Amino acid sequence: MYRTHTCGELRMDHLNLSVTLSGWVQKVRNLGGMTFIDLRDRYGITQLVFNEQSHKELCDQANELGREFVIQVKGTVAERSSKNSKIATGDIEILVEQLIILNASELPPFTIEDDTDGGDELRMKYRYLDLRRAPVRDNLVLRHKMGFEVRNYLNSQNFIETETPVLIKSTPEGARDFVVPSRMNEGQFYALPQSPQVFKQLLMVGGFDRYFQIVKCFRDEDLRADRQPEFTQIDCEMSYVEQNDILNTFEGMTKHLFKTIKGVDLDYDFPRLSYADAMKYYGSDKPDTRFDMKFVDITDSVKESEFKLFSSAEYVGGICANGCADYTRKQLDQLTDFVKKPQIGAGGLIYIKYNADGSVKSSIDKFYTEDQLQSLGEQFGAKPGDLVLILAGSTNKTLNALCELRLEMGTRLGLRDRNTFSPLWVVDFPLLEWDEDTNRFYAMHHPFTSPKVEDLALLDTDPKNVRANAYDLVINGIEIGGGSIRIFNDELQHKMFKILGFSEEDAEAQFGFLMNAFKYGAPPHGGVAFGFDRLVALFAGIDSIRDVIAFPKNNSGRDVMIDSPSPISKEQLEELNIALTKKEK
Ligand code: AMO
Repeated sequence: MYRTHTCGELRMDHLNLSVTLSGWVQKVRNLGGMTFIDLRDRYGITQLVFNEQSHKELCDQANELGREFVIQVKGTVAERSSKNSKIATGDIEILVEQLIILNASELPPFTIEDDTDGGDELRMKYRYLDLRRAPVRDNLVLRHKMGFEVRNYLNSQNFIETETPVLIKSTPEGARDFVVPSRMNEGQFYALPQSPQVFKQLLMVGGFDRYFQIVKCFRDEDLRADRQPEFTQIDCEMSYVEQNDILNTFEGMTKHLFKTIKGVDLDYDFPRLSYADAMKYYGSDKPDTRFDMKFVDITDSVKESEFKLFSSAEYVGGICANGCADYTRKQLDQLTDFVKKPQIGAGGLIYIKYNADGSVKSSIDKFYTEDQLQSLGEQFGAKPGDLVLILAGSTNKTLNALCELRLEMGTRLGLRDRNTFSPLWVVDFPLLEWDEDTNRFYAMHHPFTSPKVEDLALLDTDPKNVRANAYDLVINGIEIGGGSIRIFNDELQHKMFKILGFSEEDAEAQFGFLMNAFKYGAPPHGGVAFGFDRLVALFAGIDSIRDVIAFPKNNSGRDVMIDSPSPISKEQLEELNIALTKKEK
């Protein structure tokens, strides 16, 4: 028997018990006469004591042990003279009577402790060692618990977990596909699913009524902290439902997770904000609503201004930062530099300080009288002590820059607390998005999303103003999930493909199977997919989803541990009948 207890289990109740423990050597401290070892496993750390006087040989053996050796010890549980309240087993220690080395270890390339000295790349290369660290392990345990509660909830709601294939056909959903060559079908390729979208719709045609799957999805897109090339969705679909039914079911799932995992009661209806209002008030379809600071559009009221920047701009708007009128020159310069960063792209920043003493000071004093500035302030609801920050320029760019400025101010003012959760549904997304470069419409969500019935007529006359039955769940500025009510009629689906620039032949070749299925009594249906990695990262209070994935890829899409992607052999290429050409530099 390798162990009678784990390294996280023994307490004062176990005093004088003979025990056997196995684990990794975290630390050896030789204090002359006594040697102490921290023995670690998944469950915790237990202190081992080797006494030179009573067990000389054993103690010598212990002093030879290196970090990460795997050992087994037999001994007796004793009360510690100097207790360690930081660990659960800190009241006891094991007086070791027998030691067996189960496996030696080379010196690990970084310390396997909560605060490690290992950099990111190194930890990823030796991820199996990184996984021994408590913070990494805790995130994965959290992930396990959340997956378990998702299954619990959805099972209680009659959802059936169903697997769908991984080798499929290209389904355009915005990103590039990863493709896999087929040996048996020369010159042909499978695509890895960006999501199981069409399969879950076909399961509805197949009468499944309620489907879910915790499933890997693959997208060849540029990576960010919240994006991985392979990530996991909680993918769901329901039949005979309207938008409200779906929002209510998945609001229920979100509340269930908050309650069971974090002990947080979200006992209110999640607000629903239209896409148009989200853009108007927050400049983003995923607003961080932990704090207010909504945009105020003053374009019309400054149209006649002598100040050219204002009167000539397509959009002028700003935010009111409460209590910031005492910002120094330096702080305002920092904010100006912030909005002028290339990725934000504002030309400059205008400020108006509504000082606590009632006076007003601004960067546009030359163009505006104090009275005029006061009346501008009224539009922002500015009180004495507040700072108004204004940007002007083309609408989309300025809304975007203002969004970044608002988030920056929220951070500076400590309004984005990780333990505060502010969920909302963003609804009524536009159905289509016009792309200037390719001169065509793209589906904002995906091509299977249904238009709102009341906007159907606009499909022919004014497609860009057609709203979709599409929704996103946003929490703390993160897009956690998205979905839609689907088209379930082959005529409308055909029309949609046409608007998206598919020829009849292309639509038939790519989606003939779906439209065919729709001819056999497809039920009304809709669904949603949650980004599981993002949800776990949110619950863990961290920004990067890499930290909640056991074996993640780096920012270049590489797994540095297994060194992938990698070339394949000439023989493999020949078998697939694939010849590589050199890319011109
Ligand atoms: P969508 O493309 O919005 O919808 O994806 C759903 C959710 O998946 C997460 N997500 C990602 N997470 C990590 N890395 C990525 N690269 C990544 N891409 C997306 C986000 C997102 O909200 N089939 C539809 C859903 C439906 O209509 O039912 C879909 O995939 O949290």
